This record gives sequence, C-alpha cells and structure tokens, in this order.
Amino acid sequence: MNLPRHIAIIMDGNGRWACNQGLPRVEGHRAGAKAVHRTVRACREIGIEALTLYAFSEQNWARPEPEVEALMHLLLEYVRTERQEILGNDIRLTAIGDLERLPPFVREPLFALMEESASNQGMVLTLALSYGGREEILRAARALAREAAAGRLDPADIDEAAFAAGLDTAGLPDPDLLIRTSGELRVSNFLLWQIAYAELWFTEDTWPEFDRAHLDLAIECYRQRQRRFGRTGEQVLAAVGATGC
Ligand code: IPE
Ligand code: IPE
Ligand code: MG
Repeated sequence: MNLPRHIAIIMDGNGRWACNQGLPRVEGHRAGAKAVHRTVRACREIGIEALTLYAFSEQNWARPEPEVEALMHLLLEYVRTERQEILGNDIRLTAIGDLERLPPFVREPLFALMEESASNQGMVLTLALSYGGREEILRAARALAREAAAGRLDPADIDEAAFAAGLDTAGLPDPDLLIRTSGELRVSNFLLWQIAYAELWFTEDTWPEFDRAHLDLAIECYRQRQRRFGRTGEQVLAAVGATGC
C-alpha cells in the first residue's frame, strides 16, 4: 500500500482561523484540539505507525503570557479528555522537547499518561512540546561531547545512528511525510535532523479546518511521489523490477 510509516504535522493557523471568525485566538487553539482528536483517530484507522504533532515550539514561549497559559491549560484538558481515546485505541503517547520547561500541572498528568500507555502497540503518538530542532541537536551534541571528553566515546564512532540515538526521537523512524497547514512554506525549527528526506505537503487551509479529506489527499500525494534518496529514477525503478523514466 506504500503508506507513510511516520507522519509529522506542523499544526499552524489556529490564530488566523479564529481571527477570520471574529473570535479570540484561544478559540482557534480550542478548535485545533478538535482537529488533533480527528487526526489521531484517522491515522490510527488508516494504520499509520507513528504520528508526531508540533503542538508548542521552544520559540512559542515568547508569545504573550495569557496565550501561553491558555495553551498549557488546553494541553492539560487534552491529556484528561483523550485518556480513554488513547488507551482504548492501543496508542502509545510520547513527548519530545524540553519537557522540564512545562509547568508541573501539565507535566505530571502528561507523564502519567505516557507511562500508562507505554506498552501500547497500535500507533505512537508523539507531541512536540517546548520543542525546537536546533535545541534538540545541541542537546545531543553536548551529551556526545561530554562522553568523548570523559574518554568513554571515540569521536570517530559518532555516525548517523549514534547521533540519532541521542535525539529525543530515538527509536522512531524518520518522518516520511511532513504536513504543514495554513499556507506557510517553512519548517519553523521542527525535526530538522529527522526530515532530511521527508516528503513535504502543504495546504492553504488552517489547522482547525484540517480533516480526513486533507489527510487522505496528503497520503495520496505521498503515494504518487518517487523517493529517490539521491539515486536516479531508473535506479529506483530497477530496484523494484520496473523500467521507465
Ligand atoms: C498554531 O497556530 C498553534 C501554535 C503555534 C501553538 P498559531 O497560533 O501559530 O496560528 P497563527 O499562525 O497565528 O494563525
Ligand atoms: C510552528 O508554528 C509551531 C507550531 C505549530 C507549534 P508557528 O506559528 O510558531 O511558526 P512561525 O512563527 O510562523 O514560523
Ligand atoms: Mg502560526
């Protein structure tokens, strides 16, 4: 079926959606949480192995304090209201980013649900929270440098696998498909190492509008693409016993 194993989504446009409806920004985030519910359910139904959602970036801490606070409360609400959905659908919840920066009233129930769902096998749902790709790479580089300085690691042994093992996403396959909503054509510090060969799909529609039809279309577009990883199209075809250009 050639489905993406791992889909990553930059859920953008909540604020503009709300503004267009004459609502406060927080209502956009609330509607965004409904889109998260729909998308998690749809990915599980389709049989996606891993779904990673960019919910709050390291840089988002710089937003006005009431918006940050509202987002943290929505996150708490998400963990509470989706508990049954996650556990009942065999979903393992994980989180990446500088999680220590999250307020304890969010971190504690989040970690509890992560632990409760840890042995689930149906799909891995990863929330990127207080997450920045550069920050993650720096943390991994620092940890490797410390090991090398202590004489426990030969720098010559630092290969792609060793580096990837030091990232928050260790153990997850790299994203095959990266989706961004709301018409912005940038990656905004998301999974910088991991998206090296991800296929990108953009929609003008905002995140609160994202539904099963968008997801199906993104997956369909992905399935039409030829992933070459630096090789020629002919080489890729020959590997599956076909010819053409
Ligand atoms: C995405 O929507 C949610 C977060 C970044 C937390 P935005 O809040 O960025 O919405 P816009 O881009 O301002 O419309
Ligand atoms: C990226 O969206 C972060 C999340 C979706 C959580 P932003 O709205 O923060 O990104 P920029 O600032 O437009 O690049
Ligand atoms: Mg935005």
